[in-house]
Amino acid sequence: MKGASGRFAEQLLEVRGVSRRFGGFLAVDNVSLRVDKGEILGIAGPNGAGKSTLFNLISGVPFGPSAGEVLFEGRQIDRLPAHKIARLGLRRTFQAEQLFPSLSVWDNIAVASHYMGRRGRSARTAAATALETVGITKYRDERAGDIPLLAKKKLMIASALVARPRLLMLDEPAGGLNSEDQADLIQLLADLQKDGLTLLIIEHVLSLLRELANRMIILSSGELLVDGTPDTVLSDPRVLEAYLGKAEA
Ligand SMILES: Nc1ncnc2c1ncn2[C@@H]1O[C@H](COP(=O)(O)OP(=O)(O)OP(=O)(O)O)[C@@H](O)[C@H]1O
Ligand SMILES: [Mg+2]
Repeated sequence: MKGASGRFAEQLLEVRGVSRRFGGFLAVDNVSLRVDKGEILGIAGPNGAGKSTLFNLISGVPFGPSAGEVLFEGRQIDRLPAHKIARLGLRRTFQAEQLFPSLSVWDNIAVASHYMGRRGRSARTAAATALETVGITKYRDERAGDIPLLAKKKLMIASALVARPRLLMLDEPAGGLNSEDQADLIQLLADLQKDGLTLLIIEHVLSLLRELANRMIILSSGELLVDGTPDTVLSDPRVLEAYLGKAEA
């Protein structure tokens, strides 16, 4: 809920000075951020800025930070294995298509549900609810590889939702979608927020973040460059410079 100041009151995720080094290269450099319960925090920045790596560090998939701390609902999670983090209620999707193309939509959700420790009727109910929530029930018996791109994107979201997470982290959910499908996705994400889900969204489609994000951060060369409302962030000259500098390089 938004407090009187317009801010969301309760902190859900806190990232304290996380870094990740690959050999001599610092992909994420001392990044700190906060995500409050109920808000949508957008993350943007040029290619290679460290956005997906930051998601890896937070979710522990496939690796955690080499320095710094991550707290979820006040509990330190940066030394926990990925499946434990997921079961605490923090789920992420991947930038690349992550589904089992030869399995049915239903079986894809069943696999996700199994991973989250659900079995039997409870697993089936959770799977049916997740499909319904994202609006792809009609594809349930089709091969996941054969359904339209928007439905695939929604299937990846449904697979994350099956465990009823409190924080959902999406890595470029709109990649490759036309503007009509983007509008459909924006509506879904807005509905999820209305239902109480907190979202952390990496996206190159800045119009999506402008429409959905309550706050935004820009990463550039592994560092947090700017933090603020989408309007202030997207009109900040340092942000334009970060994108242009990258384009020239
Ligand atoms: N496992 C890894 N080993 C070595 N280098 C890596 C690894 N993962 C990422 N990197 C490097 O870290 C940097 C940040 O990559 P990352 O994928 O986080 O960027 P990004 O901001 O998500 O970019 P994009 O917008 O293109 O998805 C890149 O230079 C990348 O090559
Ligand atoms: Mg990325």
